[in-house]
Amino acid sequence: MATGAATGNQTAAQALLVEMLDPAVRADPYPVFTRIRELGPMVLPETGMVVFSGFADCDEVLRHPSSCSDGMKSSVVQRQIAEGITPQRTATPGFLFLDPPDHTRLRTLAQQAFSPKAVRALEPEIRALVGELLDAVAARGTGEQTPGAPFDVVSDLAYPLPVAVICRLLGVPLSDEPQFSRAAALLAQGLDPIMTLTGQASANADERLRADEWMRDYLGHLVAKRRAEPREDMISALIAAEEDGDQLTVDEIIATCDLLLIAGHETTVNLIANAVLAMMRAPAQWAALAGDPDRANVIIEETLRYDPPVQLVMRIAGDEMVIGDLCIAKGDSILLLIAAANRDPDAFDRPDVFDPDREGLRHLSFSKGPHFCLGAPLARLEARIALTELARRFPHARLAAEPVYKPNVTLRGLASLRLG
Ligand code: HEM
Repeated sequence: MATGAATGNQTAAQALLVEMLDPAVRADPYPVFTRIRELGPMVLPETGMVVFSGFADCDEVLRHPSSCSDGMKSSVVQRQIAEGITPQRTATPGFLFLDPPDHTRLRTLAQQAFSPKAVRALEPEIRALVGELLDAVAARGTGEQTPGAPFDVVSDLAYPLPVAVICRLLGVPLSDEPQFSRAAALLAQGLDPIMTLTGQASANADERLRADEWMRDYLGHLVAKRRAEPREDMISALIAAEEDGDQLTVDEIIATCDLLLIAGHETTVNLIANAVLAMMRAPAQWAALAGDPDRANVIIEETLRYDPPVQLVMRIAGDEMVIGDLCIAKGDSILLLIAAANRDPDAFDRPDVFDPDREGLRHLSFSKGPHFCLGAPLARLEARIALTELARRFPHARLAAEPVYKPNVTLRGLASLRLG
């Protein structure tokens, strides 16, 4: 177990982490993050876990060569296996949860489709999609045409856009989307560290397991279809790689598509909606973007810092690690509160202010090191086009209702954001 100058007392630390999970703080978890950060790194011997919430510490852990992502390496899981308890993992995981060499092999195969060059080629299509979605809003007589008539940024733009793009890239028929959107939402909730922090399974654990089985079954059928009739899509490209030699297995194709489909469903939507909300609360920023589309890049980066779509990530110490004054034992779990780190006053002036023009703008929101978000160029492009077009067409938009949040802790985001 970790040793060293862990600050804060155990009970206070544990209570704050449980408070962080409470749906009541979802609309504004930042005061809880501040209190957690003020306690310093936390060591929780009962769960074999260390929690970091400062920028420098999180940054160092993400880049550390002993940081692992394969949960099977945790001492808790290893102890369960030794006691004959079957670990939770039942199916092949996506490469987000793997370490080299498997991680490197699978990421390399997926990476081509997400390179900056491949993503730039999607720009005309993304523009057309955004145009269609916003035309539909206008046709309903909302926004500028009928000021005061509300539309929902989430359901009218921020959700359908990334979903259409990832389905297109993978080769998943968009017409099937209503079937798997529920599964994707349930699986996204599975990333919340409920079990790790409370020792209790979350309420819908069984439902999630069934959603996972359903999704893999659905993707398995699609793989069989594309094998018979290949197309110009990523599933067909992965099948070609599989048939080419021993580069990956069918289970790994399914796990990779599963990961990309969920990542494509549950993250960019939050970036777009969080950016719009931040600007609605700082209307000068909205007006500035409407007048100058070039501001989109700094607005996107500041949103990623100020209100990140992925609020935390986990690591396992693959070996003994020293971070600051803490010595972390091999097999300990490490929880990195990125949303807290991005507002660390030791790293940022006025950290709680949304200021796209701040000096030294940076963040950990796409992670660092070998697991740096594969979809970052795509997410940035989709957000840039969606935000600039929305501000250009609806320069006078204002919040029409209090935003509503999904219960998710890790992939925190809005369920509804109504503008008028
Ligand atoms: C604003 C939107 C997004 C955010 C904030 C985000 C954030 C992240 C973060 C924090 C990680 C690393 C997790 C870790 O280190 O444990 C990650 C990994 C990943 N992301 Fe994203 N993501 C976004 C959009 C996307 C999109 C659109 C895709 C693709 C469809 C995508 C695909 C992936 C993949 C495949 C990984 C795993 C990389 C690896 O393990 O090597 N992401 N993302």
